[in-house]
Amino acid sequence: MADHSSFDSLTRRLDQYRLGPRLVEQGRVLSVGDGIAWIQGLPSAAMDDLLDFEDGSRGMVFDLGKNRVGAILLQESENLTAGTVVHRSGRILNIPVGDALLGRVVDPLGNPLDGLDPPDCRTRLPLDTLSPPIIARDFVQTPLYTGCKIVDTMIPIGRGQRQLLIGDEGTGRSTLALDTVIHQQGQNVHCIYVLIGQKRSTVVSTLETLRHYGAMEYTTVVVGEAFALPGLKYLAPMAGCAIAEYWMRRGLDTLVVYDDLSTHAYTYRELSLLLRRPPGREAYPGDIFYLHSRLLERSTRLAADHGGGSMTALPIVETEQGEIAAYIPTNLISITDGQIYLDRNLFASGFRPAIDIGRSVSRIGGKAQHPRIKEEAGQMKLDYLQFLELEVFTRFGAKLEETMARKLQRGRVLREILKQDRLHPQPIEFHLAWLIAFNEGLLDEMAPAEVAAWMDRLERHVRESGLGLETAREVWLTRLRAWVA
Ligand SMILES: Nc1ncnc2c1ncn2[C@@H]1O[C@H](COP(=O)(O)OP(=O)(O)O)[C@@H](O)[C@H]1O
Ligand SMILES: [Mg+2]
Repeated sequence: MADHSSFDSLTRRLDQYRLGPRLVEQGRVLSVGDGIAWIQGLPSAAMDDLLDFEDGSRGMVFDLGKNRVGAILLQESENLTAGTVVHRSGRILNIPVGDALLGRVVDPLGNPLDGLDPPDCRTRLPLDTLSPPIIARDFVQTPLYTGCKIVDTMIPIGRGQRQLLIGDEGTGRSTLALDTVIHQQGQNVHCIYVLIGQKRSTVVSTLETLRHYGAMEYTTVVVGEAFALPGLKYLAPMAGCAIAEYWMRRGLDTLVVYDDLSTHAYTYRELSLLLRRPPGREAYPGDIFYLHSRLLERSTRLAADHGGGSMTALPIVETEQGEIAAYIPTNLISITDGQIYLDRNLFASGFRPAIDIGRSVSRIGGKAQHPRIKEEAGQMKLDYLQFLELEVFTRFGAKLEETMARKLQRGRVLREILKQDRLHPQPIEFHLAWLIAFNEGLLDEMAPAEVAAWMDRLERHVRESGLGLETAREVWLTRLRAWVA
């Protein structure tokens, strides 16, 4: 790109400037409706070009036909009708980014939705950019703590990882994402929560929760709500990603929640069908995989000589009747670095967060897990899955040897340990404490019903104790034994 700021280039440009008449393309709107417009007379329009309509509203080129151009509308406007004149703006869509966005609620174009002044940002970034090249990337090696016992011990996430939250509606996916954002308090992670096609009541309650827990200090919320133009819903995840990119490139750690990409896919399908693009599987356009992978490829951990920042992504996807083999869920499973599967039956049985531990994996987060946690939790996933199997087996009335009965009792205690209320993320030191206590058999004789209260007391004790991940195991154990006695 030319360096516009230097004087030389400016004089060069002035020398090359020719006065005289010039040809400007002028298009006309053929028809408008459902958030799109068909336009005639813009032969040199290119994909993603930003268009200026005569009435002051804007659109973006989304489809190139032989004699006409399909555009998505970016603003509601009553004056936009057939016959409205339209020009190419010569720009592509970009949004304001920067620290002024912290604590703000914006639409996917960066317009404020919180009733305050437009954020005062000096920098703008395009919504759609190429992801960082391989050489600019580094391995994921620092943990990102969610505060969720199951995730932080058995399905650990690292900064720069893309971890899918998958499950039926109402299984607690948004809750887990929100808890994770709340838990970033004091962790030096800038968060971006992108709400795509959500009901206004969900938007309001999400904002209330974030405010109530003081999370807005380090969070930006991007909203393309259910009512919004489909074009805005379509752009919302890219906008959230661009906002995070700004901080990532400045060496900061960021976390983006995309809630959710199923709705995003529906919106994309809707727009594509309206614009008569050929439908593919499940009537989605053929490039939906490309769209989502391009988005999630922008999440990464940058190498130290590229600033060392990171963008962790928690995309959310919805399944129906637990069917993870549907088109959009399988796409996203294959694009991400692992998935947390939330199960409707577990939720109904009272096991919350309703994470199906057997079906959840983190393909890269283990490398970022703290060695102390890894050491204590390494065997736990397998043991727990064996316990679940054993439990099913004993339902048929099989008689148990003593060792089996012990395993069963331990498993039942562990299941109670792993339950966790919403809006109650817990620190990693606490996870270490209960892991040691459990591994040392300090809870072996406990009735499952007593576990919750015991864990509450332990949490308080750990928070006051000042012990941490660097404290020697012996010291932890002595303290825990003394506390139990
Ligand atoms: N760990 C939990 N403990 C108790 N209630 C929960 C928990 N997780 C979620 N819920 C409740 O379950 C309901 C659905 O959760 P939500 O996160 O909105 O689901 P989803 O985003 O998957 O549709 C909410 O009312 C929420 O308060
Ligand atoms: Mg939700």
